Amino acid sequence: MLSPNTSGTTEPTYPTTRGCPFAEPSGYADLRADGPVSKVTLYNGRPAWIVTGYDAARDVLVRHEDFSSVRDDPRFPATAPRFEAAKKIRNFLGMDPPEHTAQRRTLTGSFTVERIAAQRPRIQKIVDGLLDTILADGDTADLVPQFALPVPSMTICHLMGVPYGDHAFFEHQSRRIVQGESSLEDSADAFAKVRDYLAKLIETKRRAPGDGLLDELIADYVETGELDPKDLSEIALLLLVAGHETTANAIALGVLAVLEHPDVRAGLAADPGMISGVVEELLRLLSIADGLSRFATRDTEIAGQPVAAGDGVLVAVAASNRDRAVFGDPDAFDPHRSARRHVAFGYGIHQCLGQNLARTEMEIALTSIFARIPTLRLAVPRDELRLKHPAGLHGVVALPVTW
Ligand code: HEM
Repeated sequence: MLSPNTSGTTEPTYPTTRGCPFAEPSGYADLRADGPVSKVTLYNGRPAWIVTGYDAARDVLVRHEDFSSVRDDPRFPATAPRFEAAKKIRNFLGMDPPEHTAQRRTLTGSFTVERIAAQRPRIQKIVDGLLDTILADGDTADLVPQFALPVPSMTICHLMGVPYGDHAFFEHQSRRIVQGESSLEDSADAFAKVRDYLAKLIETKRRAPGDGLLDELIADYVETGELDPKDLSEIALLLLVAGHETTANAIALGVLAVLEHPDVRAGLAADPGMISGVVEELLRLLSIADGLSRFATRDTEIAGQPVAAGDGVLVAVAASNRDRAVFGDPDAFDPHRSARRHVAFGYGIHQCLGQNLARTEMEIALTSIFARIPTLRLAVPRDELRLKHPAGLHGVVALPVTW
């Protein structure tokens, strides 16, 4: 791997792919060996800095004044063509303070540990219902469409007060938005459809309030004039999309990881209380959302590496979560280590708003599936499983199982 300071050399291209579901992207180990900051070339030929060291990653993510998240700025580094479409979307993931602060504040009270803990019985009911259907249908299933995707989809739709009958629409559009195979036009069209739907739903709810997060936000912020209904539909869109595929991938790959690690599986069967350690370690090991993008707002440095104003910066979450100085034996799946310092949910002001929800869904989904189907196993050889990495989101296309 070439040093970022070596002039006249070709930098490795980003993104890289993952050969093994539990490994970091190929090329990260070499980049890390170069030091915490290296240079890569993006798909469009643009150079960018990539941060692979844990301390440097947290440093970039916490210095939001030096490193902007504003997506519709031409300096923002797109890591895939579909990011160009995403640049036009105005939600707080792609904003800096003070706009970011104002919008995020409307939601923080709804995603606290306590508020999410109150959702446990509902999530358990969703998971139990899906497992009932799977078991009633025979002795094989594809866990991606039948389990991993509907759990977060049904949970977030319920939480927000989206009518149950519209779940299928949301799942479909959300997949079109983030899926690797779909085209840029397809992704933009899906965004437009969901945005239209949400705008209409907000209007309907303003006339006839129900009980969900959207209804609370309408009453507390829209009707008081603090939030424009258009901004609320962008916020709702962000919640639906951000909470869907990320958690679905974490559940599907989480099931696979437990299946492939008999020691963890046996430990979990003997002591279900181990689940929180299992989930935290899965989040670190899988690092589902990789390559968090920023651009430098001024001339600055990262771990001593000078970075010029306007330079693109990618935080390699999967590499940072394997920094040996922080996580000894980083490739091992060890639920007993204290993995909670991982940056799988990011760090700083943009740290994942839905992290308590994601953890709860993963805990309930994994505990329940292994308790209800103790003989669960893969229905195909593991090397036949197809991985996908659209826009830095690591997942598995299908997960055929039998029991
Ligand atoms: C395992 C599942 C999940 C993973 C790995 C994940 C990961 C992340 C990461 C890395 C970020 C920070 C992005 C950045 O700094 O640029 C983020 C932000 C965010 N996530 Fe998640 N997420 C997950 C589940 C969820 C769920 C279930 C929800 C929703 C309800 C959600 C909602 C959000 C929102 C709204 C933001 C933007 C926060 C902000 O900009 O202030 N996420 N997520």
